[in-house]
Amino acid sequence: MRTANLAPRDRVIVALDFPTIGKASALVETLGDSASFYKIGHQLAFAGGLALVPELKAAGKRVFLDLKLLDIDNTIRGGVSSVAALGADMLTLHAYPKAMAAAVAAKKASPGATDLTLLGVTVLTSMDDEDLRDAGYSLTASELAARRGAQALACGMDGLVCSTLEVAALRKIVGDSMALVVPGIRPRGSDHGDQKRVMTPAEGLQAGSDYLVIGRPINAVDEPVAAMEAIVEEMEGAING
Ligand code: C5P
Repeated sequence: MRTANLAPRDRVIVALDFPTIGKASALVETLGDSASFYKIGHQLAFAGGLALVPELKAAGKRVFLDLKLLDIDNTIRGGVSSVAALGADMLTLHAYPKAMAAAVAAKKASPGATDLTLLGVTVLTSMDDEDLRDAGYSLTASELAARRGAQALACGMDGLVCSTLEVAALRKIVGDSMALVVPGIRPRGSDHGDQKRVMTPAEGLQAGSDYLVIGRPINAVDEPVAAMEAIVEEMEGAING
């Protein structure tokens, strides 16, 4: 679901890409009221990081579990129920129609899961056309992303994770009914790291994103609060013209 009235600060999802809970908690404490939404991915989740979910929720934060599920329907249903019980706000799965349909069914059947936003990962941004051919696909990356975006919509998914390259095209395909969550964001003048195609926070919003996933520009700098505040200011500027 799109989020028309959400404040820019609440559209920033800070990636807790850390090897330990201690390091992740330290960033959450440093950021304090500056940040309201955090992402836990494989690295932290497999280092005990799921224990942070209830803690973050108790502190009034929102939590995105970037676990990119893909499995048989029965296992997807069980996974989604457990994530719902944990209290997470967002969950990713690979945008395969059967997996998405199973996840949507599990969400409907899980008490308390009505607020869980299910996001489909269209095509990993590390895959180009040649990688897809190698993996047995005949579509290009942009064709496959468009197809999976339409399938996610048809399955009743709540949103998509997509690259800066795809966001404008996917917004046209899914209309206003789905949330688009976009990584690869770099504030003006910052280091791009290994992200090849980046947008500034302002460009991300203007292209049609609802949420921006931001890691190293916040989690790997000396002054995370200052970095976050500069990003929020840039987003406010984009919204207010
Ligand atoms: O440090 P950086 O801002 O590049 O981090 C972006 C975050 O978004 C990381 O947690 C990364 O795993 C995630 N991500 C991504 N590209 C995708 C999907 C997720 O960079 N296509």
